[in-house]
Amino acid sequence: MATERTLSIIKPDAVEKNHIGGVVALIEGAGLKVKAMRMTQLTKAQAQGFYAVHKERPFFGELVDFMTRSPVVIMCLEGENAIARYRDVMGATDPKKAAEGTIRKQFGSNIGENASHGSDAKETAAFEIGYFFPGFEIG
Ligand code: CMP
Repeated sequence: MATERTLSIIKPDAVEKNHIGGVVALIEGAGLKVKAMRMTQLTKAQAQGFYAVHKERPFFGELVDFMTRSPVVIMCLEGENAIARYRDVMGATDPKKAAEGTIRKQFGSNIGENASHGSDAKETAAFEIGYFFPGFEIG
């Protein structure tokens, strides 16, 4: 299995409720390494660009409003099989369907306000890491 990198966002709902530490503890507890981290409040343009693949979805406007309402914590994570492993740590998109012990089960509220984002494939991870850490030497 190869060492991979993935992009993680602790979403506004989890940051607002003081769950940054709780989310990072689950990430590190799963053996993933935080290679880069920044806290910022996204602009509408940044959120629209990041979620461009969803722009035709009915929930796109709601998603952009939510992601820009208060600060987020953006991380580049690294580890063996990091993309799939982090998705396991997050749990299902809908917190009601997420397994016990996952980020979304513990900290998410509903399918829109679900505490965390993680890249879903190698190609999206490369795009997403470059989007928020442009030209940054993460190695
Ligand atoms: P995320 O992994 O950040 O990628 C796209 C996001 O869209 C997803 O998490 C959800 O938070 C959000 N999303 C997916 N389906 C819905 C929905 N039906 N209503 C609102 N938001 C949604």
